[in-house]
Amino acid sequence: MKYIIFNWKSYLNLKESVKLSKIISGFKKSKKFKIISAPNNFFHLALSEKFKKNLYATQNFDLDGRGASTGSLDISHLIENKIKYTIIGHSEMRSNHGENDKIVSKKLELSINNKLIPIVCIGESLNIYKSKKTKSYLRSQINTIFKKTEKYDQIILAYEPLWSIGTGLTPELSEIDDICKFLSKILEKYTFKKINILYGGSVNLSNISEILNLQFVNGVLVGSASTKSSFIKYFK
Ligand code: PGA
Repeated sequence: MKYIIFNWKSYLNLKESVKLSKIISGFKKSKKFKIISAPNNFFHLALSEKFKKNLYATQNFDLDGRGASTGSLDISHLIENKIKYTIIGHSEMRSNHGENDKIVSKKLELSINNKLIPIVCIGESLNIYKSKKTKSYLRSQINTIFKKTEKYDQIILAYEPLWSIGTGLTPELSEIDDICKFLSKILEKYTFKKINILYGGSVNLSNISEILNLQFVNGVLVGSASTKSSFIKYFK
């Protein structure tokens, strides 16, 4: 079973999100793919009430969101809106909203305490990639985000090189597999009931099947391509 996460970011309005959700809801139950869509946070309730069998993730929530916190997105409200998954530490939250690995670690804890399944994003910059320091950088991200004393339930980890997101560039297939293998190795020091390692960054119709065929890749996180019905229909 491969996890397929559609990150619709803020690309789609409600009507367009309904259209894609309708296509997904028409798919037969599959043993091959588990599809989770992350629509704009405004649309969750409308979508989850209309498409009861679809799975939805939030793109974000705020730490200390409850109470006198104007403009915040509180985790309890997400749960009220029937959301089961949450993306944490996406590169756009990191670059636009100052989310760092320490904040990601706190959000991870909060999501677990609230029984939201986390989709944790990590990835290196182009400079780090070019200077061949990707593995040591990812190791330090993992060490900051996860705790050795914690017994984690289900975690989804998305390896998303920052230089690959929205650029049309991807690492070589062998590099993706090698990094995902490396991640599964270093995660052995932590306790998980279930951990799935995904790849994200410029996944599209022309590379999806090769990426999903990689041995150590348990799925993909897809941004712009996932806003197109032609791409979505690949998973029917
Ligand atoms: P992309 O985005 O597929 O458009 O590169 C991936 C992501 O932001 O997670």
